[in-house]
Amino acid sequence: MSYNSRTIDLILKAQEPNQKQFTTFQQFFKSNNPPPLLFEKNITPKNVKAQRSFSNKTQDSIKETKRKSLSQLKYPEYRMLKIYARIKPGECQLNYDKQSILIETNPYNFDRVFEQSATQGDIFDIVAKQTVDDFLNNINGCLIAYGQTGSGKTFTMFGESSNPGIVLRTFTHLFSRNQETIYVSILEIYKDHVYDLVSGVQDLKLKEDLQLGFYVDGLKKIKVDKLESCQELLQIAEENRHVAETKLNALSSRSHLILTIQMGKTKLHLVDLAGSEKVNKTGAIGETLQEAKKINYSLSCLGHVIQCLSQGQDHIPYRDSKLTKLLMDSLQADCRTSIIVTLSPESKNQDETVSSLKFAQRARFIKKEIRIATQKKTYRDLELEITQLKQELLETKQRMSQTSSVSQFQCRYTTDSEIPCTESLRLTYRSMTNENKENYLPNLKTQENNTQLELENKINQILVELQGLNKEQSLDNVKRQVAKINELTIDMKKTYKVLVSTQGLNNNQLQIQSQFIETQQEQNKQLQKIAEQISSMDSSKPSFNIAINNMIKNLQQQQKQNIEDMQSKLEKVYYDIKKNTTVQDYNLNHLALKLVASPNRQQQQQQQQQIKRSQSKTNINPSVKYLKNKK
Ligand SMILES: Nc1ncnc2c1ncn2[C@@H]1O[C@H](COP(=O)(O)OP(=O)(O)OP(=O)(O)O)[C@@H](O)[C@H]1O
Ligand SMILES: [Mg+2]
Repeated sequence: MSYNSRTIDLILKAQEPNQKQFTTFQQFFKSNNPPPLLFEKNITPKNVKAQRSFSNKTQDSIKETKRKSLSQLKYPEYRMLKIYARIKPGECQLNYDKQSILIETNPYNFDRVFEQSATQGDIFDIVAKQTVDDFLNNINGCLIAYGQTGSGKTFTMFGESSNPGIVLRTFTHLFSRNQETIYVSILEIYKDHVYDLVSGVQDLKLKEDLQLGFYVDGLKKIKVDKLESCQELLQIAEENRHVAETKLNALSSRSHLILTIQMGKTKLHLVDLAGSEKVNKTGAIGETLQEAKKINYSLSCLGHVIQCLSQGQDHIPYRDSKLTKLLMDSLQADCRTSIIVTLSPESKNQDETVSSLKFAQRARFIKKEIRIATQKKTYRDLELEITQLKQELLETKQRMSQTSSVSQFQCRYTTDSEIPCTESLRLTYRSMTNENKENYLPNLKTQENNTQLELENKINQILVELQGLNKEQSLDNVKRQVAKINELTIDMKKTYKVLVSTQGLNNNQLQIQSQFIETQQEQNKQLQKIAEQISSMDSSKPSFNIAINNMIKNLQQQQKQNIEDMQSKLEKVYYDIKKNTTVQDYNLNHLALKLVASPNRQQQQQQQQQIKRSQSKTNINPSVKYLKNKK
């Protein structure tokens, strides 16, 4: 049998051999011997076409499996936020080594300090490569260049055509490894407006989605499949970006640029911020001054967010600026983020350098937890997956039922198209010599058996996941109810406090106060109990939802009762107080109580107006003052 070079090419492409296999295979072809059973599937020119289409199809599923198995991997504990410093060439007064920069006696530590001679390649290899590789394994990533104007942010991210920066090197690296479709979008935030740097559309709106977080509505995502398309995009973006000449930088970026590469649901953001600047130093006037103000404002918002994150605060002010809204994802847990702080080391820049170093130090305190990178599947995703798997299982079972034993399996079929097996197995089978075919038939049967088992396992796994989700949702529901009721109790407690602070406490009233606390403790205990109950229930049974609904109803009823009890006790306190107060004071207090206890907004407004009317007739009572402050 002889093979021409085109056929050899086709076969090799279809087989996707590694280098060693490739060389061996080539030698066999050259010697015109039939190809050996070198791979799992042995193919000949005759079936190479079929094999190719099979190969294309299976490549997708192999990739998918690989992706899934990778996403299930528990990643080793590495920090998800890394901070680097890059010192710009030129006069340098800084005292530094590979890990820290010393200013007077204060050391500022980094994951790595890049000396002035560091090349663009060094920066990519150490700062970006791992993030890009992780991105290929479905971990979100973000690389941010931060620093004083003129310190080299744009140089680090984009570089020059002869000496490209992180962005182009990222694309080169991606195309050398990735076969999947990727999308690119490039935006800038200029004077607090969002511009699409690819399509040129201005003033795009930011929207918020429960699952997607903040996103830019209408931002163009361009499908790219080769490096040249990316270079073109970068050129368009560069032409569209707002730049201006300042005293410190002839081509100063006047906007924050976010380039996003997306693959499936995974995103990699590459961010070139505008530089922080002291307006008197840059000589900014007019338009440039207005730009500088906006730039400094959004950078200070970013600084504030970083500070709150580093202090572990509950509330992080992401919403303060568009920049922080768009970087919110990257600063949270699921993303591998690196910040490169660029520094202009001349002594005249010491103030700015120290301020950049302080920003870096705060960022280093942020604790970012490891989470598995894949987006959590929703209930609907899982349901869809399970339906598909069940269908596959049904088909496998049908095929299996046609043959009850291996011997039957072996002798029943005259042509291979009759063999009840998956298309991929059939193709493998077809490519075999007759002798191999006979040996392979029982193997086929076993493989089909295994497929069935695998499918069943998968389905069971998803069922367990579904159950977990179901329970989580129910518990959330119950928690929300309890929180609502707790809020009401807290409000009542406040009213009570106002009352006693104006009127003083007697024993009876003290007792009521402790009852308020007890009620809340009781509610929390109940929640604990319910959580335990829910976790021990089988959420796949239809009775699960009914039980949850009953639980919520009971809880609501019980709490309603509690609140009513409390309200009547409060009323009693009022009566006590009434004895010592004027009729007008009493009326005011009474209305104030109603206002807090009333859940209905309209009613509240009516009552507030009533209070106002009464107030005009009398001096303001402290409890009303309190309520006014509360508003
Ligand atoms: N590491 C470096 N090696 C060589 N040249 C550099 C380096 N860093 C910066 N430069 C040069 O310094 C000048 C200013 O750099 P760049 O425009 O990147 O600053 P920037 O931080 O982006 O400033 P801005 O905030 O004003 O946009 C450019 O001419 C750039 O080529
Ligand atoms: Mg710049």
